[in-house]
This record gives sequence, C-alpha cells and structure tokens, in this order.
Amino acid sequence: MLPKFLSKVQIYTCFLTVLVCGGCQQPPPNLQQRSKQGMAVSAHPLASAAGLDLLQQGGNAVDAAAATALAISVVEPFSAGIGGGGFLLLRRAETGTVQALDFRERAPRRAARDMYLDKQGKVRQRASLDGHLAAGIPGTVAGLYTVQREYGKLPWAAVVAPAIALAEKGFPVSSRFTAATQQRQDAIKKNRAAREVFTSGGILYQPGELLIQRDLARTLRQIAENPQSFYSGDIARAITADMAKNGGIITLEDLKNYTPIWRNPVCGNFRAYEICAMSPPSSGGVHLLQILNILGDTDLKRLGRQSPDTLHLLAESMKIAYADRAEYLGDPDFVSVPVKALTSSNYAKLRRSQIQMSKARPSSEIKAVDAETLNRLLWESPETTHLTVVDKERNVVSLTFTVNGGFGAGVVAAGTGILLNNEMDDFAAATGVPNLFGLVGGEANSIAPGKTPLSSMTPVIVTENGKFRLAAGAPGGSTIITTVLQIVLNVLVYDMNVGDAVSAPRVHHQWQPDRLMVERGGFETATLSELRRRGHLIVESDGWGNANAIVLTGDGWLEGAADRRGEGEARGF
Ligand code: DON
Repeated sequence: MLPKFLSKVQIYTCFLTVLVCGGCQQPPPNLQQRSKQGMAVSAHPLASAAGLDLLQQGGNAVDAAAATALAISVVEPFSAGIGGGGFLLLRRAETGTVQALDFRERAPRRAARDMYLDKQGKVRQRASLDGHLAAGIPGTVAGLYTVQREYGKLPWAAVVAPAIALAEKGFPVSSRFTAATQQRQDAIKKNRAAREVFTSGGILYQPGELLIQRDLARTLRQIAENPQSFYSGDIARAITADMAKNGGIITLEDLKNYTPIWRNPVCGNFRAYEICAMSPPSSGGVHLLQILNILGDTDLKRLGRQSPDTLHLLAESMKIAYADRAEYLGDPDFVSVPVKALTSSNYAKLRRSQIQMSKARPSSEIKAVDAETLNRLLWESPETTHLTVVDKERNVVSLTFTVNGGFGAGVVAAGTGILLNNEMDDFAAATGVPNLFGLVGGEANSIAPGKTPLSSMTPVIVTENGKFRLAAGAPGGSTIITTVLQIVLNVLVYDMNVGDAVSAPRVHHQWQPDRLMVERGGFETATLSELRRRGHLIVESDGWGNANAIVLTGDGWLEGAADRRGEGEARGF
C-alpha cells in the first residue's frame, strides 16, 4: 500500500495531469513560435494575445507581462489571479540587471503557528486548503501595479483593459477549465459566490460555453481606476466583510499594510551562463543553483540526456536539495536562510562527494547538511562572484504567480468575483506534516503573523556574455524547481530548441516521499529497470508542469514555446 502522504501527492498529481494533458498520448507537437520584435507566452492563448496586444501598442515587457497576468486571472482563475500572489523577475535592457519582486501572499496579523491544529495537536484535515481561513493576504494587484508604475510605458488602465474585456464579454471555457472545475466542484458548490461565478445554477460550464464574470469585470474596472481600492477601498471592504462572515481572519488593516518587496534574486554561474532565479521566500532559486552546482562540470552531454547515469545523478541531487529545503528555507524576513552557503561551490563539492553512481541513497539516510558544516562552508566561501550581464536591447520579465491549489481556497469574496488563494497551506502547519505537494518543513517555515509561506515558484532568467539567453518558469508546486532545472539543462547543455526543451519528458524527486517520479511513456524500459536496480522507487505519472519559455537565438530571433502538456501559446510579432 502507498504511504498516506504519497497517495495525497498522487491525487494532486492526477489533478495536474488532467489539467495539463487530459490523458493525451499523441506525440508532442512542437508549439514553438519565432519572432523578432517581441513575444508573450503564457498558459492561455487569450492571455498571450493580451500581452501581444500591449506590445503592439508600444508597451514594453512590463506592460505586456502585467496585462497577461491580469488576463490569466480571468481566463485561468483556477491557477492564478488577483486573489493570489507571486514573484516577478525583471531584466531591464537599460541596466542589464535582474530585479525580483515578491508579491506573494502573507499570513494575516491574526494568524498563529497552531491555527490549523486540533486540541490533540493534529493538523485538521483540509483546514489550510478550503475556505476563508486558508487564504493569505493577496499580493497580485499591488505587485503588478508596483512594477508597472515604475517600469511600464503605457497607462495602467491600458494594461487592465484586456482583462476587463475578457471578464465582461466572456470567453469560451476549455476542457482544461471544465476539468479543473470538476476537480474542485465540492468546494465551489459549497460557497455561494463561487457557485454563482463558476457554475451555471450548479451545473459546470462545458468546453465551448461562454463564461462571463460580471463581478470580476466591475472589480477590475475599479482596479483600473484606482488599484489601491483593492487594499483600502470598496474592494478591500467587500473582501474583509466576506472574511468576517465566513470565519476568515484577513482584516482591513492586513490589506492596508500589504506591500510588495523588491528583493535581490539568487544568481550564480553555471558554465558560461549566469542564472538568476527567485530568492527566498521562494526556495526555487536556491535549489536550482544548488542542483546545477552539484552537477557542476559533469559531462552530461556525453552521459546522454535520458541515460540512467544522468537521471540517477539528477535524482540524487534533487533529494539533497529538498532535504535542505525542509530544514533551512523560509521567509528571510523571519528566519536567516543560508543562501550563500547552500549555493556555494564548496557546498556542492561536499554534496557531490556523497553521491554514489551505482546506488540510490534512501531519503532516510539523507539529512540536511548540519549547521556547523554550513557555517564552515559560509566562511570558506564568503562570496560567489557573479558576472552581471548586460543586454541593451531586451527587457525580460519572468513571472510566476498563483492561488496555490486548483481554484485556491474554493471561495470567492462575495460581490467581487475574486477567487481567494489557499496559500497558507504552503506553510508547515506542523513539523514534518506534508502539505498539498507532499513537502515537509519545520521551524523555518512555521506560521507567524505577517510571514510569507515558503514557495517553490522559480521564475528564471539566464544570460550569456551579457546578453539575454533564456527565461522560463512553470507551475506544479514542489515539481516547479525540477521542471525549470530540466528546461535549463535541455537548452543550455543539450542544445535543444525551446519547444522540445519545454516539452521533453521529465523526472522529479523531492526527498520525501522517497520515490522518483517519471513521466509515463517518456523513458525507455531498460533505463527505468537500471534505475530500479540502483535502488530508486519509480512512480510513473502522466505529465506535469505546464511550463513555458522564451530563448534568444544566436541570430537574434526570439523563440518561445508553451508546454505541449497544456493549452498555452507563444504569441509574437
Ligand atoms: O508557491 C508554491 O510553491 C505553490 N503555492 C505553487 C502552487 C502551484 O504550482 C500549483 N500548481 N500547479
């Protein structure tokens, strides 16, 4: 029998796979697009079109990214929205530097470490997943407005306009949308406002039917006029009134105090490239670099992309990274996260020396590196030298945002059309108790008022010799880091074109549970047998990740691709 947490993770994995593939088994079409002037790629064609529209109006990457994100909030509300939060990486052509904006949800002032535990100290089932109490303070509107006001070119109202039109005029729902609603219909039907928005009198919208979201359109109009209305105006009052009525704890004061935070991204060198990715409170950047450092100068190309040696090395490195994640990663404003040590070359050397090529190490034998060693590494490697790369021609935005689980908390703040996140589940509700994604954590990621839950979201920007090279990102909870890792390797090591790089079969290991997830049908039987022989517990799963990426080719073309596992599209001109 499967361990309890594994079955929970697998249930979620199924949710992802239904969403991204619908059981399809066809060979991957290459969804790559090529253009010169500009490109937007997202998980939904209508959102990519919104981004392209802004670019064609003379907007820059920031305008287009904000418009795409707001449009996603309308057409893919189950994945991300203005009731959620996220991270944005921006590389400005003018300075050539990468900046990171943290607009993730934060724990309300009345949140408490044990808020999801019962009297016996056990985590109450689904308490951090369903309903108003599961929501963190949303950051999307503040984040998008902050970056657009500072770096955008067009009026804010122009950025919000496509989302308003999509909410007002409606859009035909896709099979992916219907599948997402099916998965969460119990929660949606229980909440009156959610039922009104996402069902037609309790009946789910079927593919091709038009979904009009009038309340959301009105909310977006208010946001277009005055984004602050989300935090201190009518929208804030509607959200908090709904909270008060339904056992939620987000107050007007929480919303008023919300501020996005500019942070330094985590950057490091991998061969000829500089990789910048999201820093804590995401674990993504730290572990992406940690794994790339462990792989180091191993001749992965010679080993072969899908060989047992490569996959084994990836799996063993992933386990190590996720063991450290559970121990050390959390909100840097509350706990000290040893970013430098974990991403240092000495750390990587130590960890690489612990990997045996002939045998998988059981997760139970892999521990987070001890604090003393970590300190030593820090002293031995006080600094990693980062090459700051300048590209005078391309602004780049890489943005990942979310409401966490499908349809977030499953509740809409009455009268606003805003679907609320269940990001509080990204905290460790209790030490060692797995969250929705099977991730475990402890003290560093415990709940506290104003604290940000630990994320795996990994927007990444790669440069080479001062020029933009690759930007990528993915959904998928705990799998995000390893998805982005494999896309980066596919492009930079295996010279794959972006369409193939995004769509190639993937593996994933997250230390706990101790099993290697491999994409069904993506790997040779002999390869899997060899991995089993080395001691890996293999679990085959349908595709996950729904990533997308844009690369700049040597001859100056932008090539972008959305994942064959989803319905996204690259749009350029
Ligand atoms: O921040 C995180 O790591 C998660 N809340 C992301 C959620 C997610 O990717 C949902 N995925 N399909």
